[in-house]
Amino acid sequence: MQAKVNRIVFASGNAGKVREIGQLLEGLSINILPQSDFNVPEIEETGRTFVENAILKARNAAHYTGLPAIADDSGIAVDVLQGRPGIVSARFAGVGASDEDNLLKLIDMIKPFPEEQRTARFICSMVYLRHEHDPIPMIAQGVWEGQLVTDPKGKNGFGYDPIFYVSSHQCTSAELPPEIKNTLSHRGQALKQLLVKLNEIYSME
Ligand code: IMP
Repeated sequence: MQAKVNRIVFASGNAGKVREIGQLLEGLSINILPQSDFNVPEIEETGRTFVENAILKARNAAHYTGLPAIADDSGIAVDVLQGRPGIVSARFAGVGASDEDNLLKLIDMIKPFPEEQRTARFICSMVYLRHEHDPIPMIAQGVWEGQLVTDPKGKNGFGYDPIFYVSSHQCTSAELPPEIKNTLSHRGQALKQLLVKLNEIYSME
């Protein structure tokens, strides 16, 4: 008899993220499908926290597909900016701003502060909803500590990676090979935690 394959929708249009999560879920009886396969419309991120926004995205995907859903929401929090840009990291320089616009705005804001004060962290909340009305979402959160530099370096990654200095590897996160970044990053950590929980319900018989 064939093992049952469970379908889960991933509430992101980012093909790289969908591929990455699919690889990490290998071995489980799960087939991860991007929400673009179902023409799920984007939802406005009106939450005040990463986890609220992740739940909004997952609920939206579950609503339009009738499937269980995983979503993540992430950003960077800078200490000397009182945790900004935080949940507005993707639109720090305005709605529709590019990664470069956001990066340049952040560099301008941190420039006046000495290096040792430029501590920051990437944060990722990842959630799993069994269905649209699931009252007990599975929640996982990952945090990655670093220091910001004002001279961008590296071509890997995206967003604020070129100025996020990782002291353990003495380079920016944009200089790390993707497989190394995944073992350290906020998103990698959150996914690992969620996997432990998903394993309990989706482990291969
Ligand atoms: P989202 O998780 O795709 O909503 O990302 C929110 C925003 O936070 C991105 O547009 C980036 O600006 C920033 N961000 C989140 N994770 C990372 C990362 O791993 N590297 C660099 N920037 C990130």
